[in-house]
Amino acid sequence: MELKDISFREITLQDKAWIDAFIRKHWGDNYIVVHNEIYVPGELKGFIAIKSEIKVALITYVIKGDKVEIVSLNSELENIGVGAHLIDLVKNEAKKCKCSIMWLITTNDNIKAIDFYKKRGFLLTGISKGAVDLSRKLKPGIPLFGENGIPIQDELVFQINI
Ligand SMILES: CC(C)(COP(=O)(O)OP(=O)(O)OC[C@H]1O[C@@H](n2cnc3c(N)ncnc32)[C@H](O)[C@@H]1OP(=O)(O)O)[C@@H](O)C(=O)NCCC(=O)NCCS
Repeated sequence: MELKDISFREITLQDKAWIDAFIRKHWGDNYIVVHNEIYVPGELKGFIAIKSEIKVALITYVIKGDKVEIVSLNSELENIGVGAHLIDLVKNEAKKCKCSIMWLITTNDNIKAIDFYKKRGFLLTGISKGAVDLSRKLKPGIPLFGENGIPIQDELVFQINI
């Protein structure tokens, strides 16, 4: 499987049910809590990756002023460039909207995501210690430990100029 076998398109209103289910599968519910805010990815802008008519990855984002925040990114077809391409698609949209900064939050346990963003030029610009404990007040289902056994506690802010 190669990236050329994958098609990409913008989210439409018809995708909402699939996005709700996809986000629930990956993040425990159809909403995400970051920096003490609730986001429903099914209500956001974004892009979907499709392989043989099956949706395999999703990125959602929010633009505020000159900043674009990646709210969610999940790829079920890893290591062929789908995640990086989805980021590029958002970057292009954000540039059209005169954004100069792209940023996102991940958590201290998510080593793969931390590596992924660092290798793509994102800089760690902030750490909010214990922020996930606050998030659990809004979303009690957030697990205490990541898949690798690391306690999920802190929010890490990654940022890149675009
Ligand atoms: C992080 C995540 C989005 C990456 O998605 P992905 O589709 O695997 O991303 P890519 O394929 O673009 O890149 C992943 C790796 O594959 C490598 N890769 C890309 N194309 C490749 C190819 N043709 N052959 C071999 N390796 C390739 C990339 O170099 C990258 O490795 P690196 O980070 O060591 O450089 C995905 O692992 C995921 O969904 N994780 C769980 C959810 C999550 O944590 N999301 C982020 C939280 S904000």
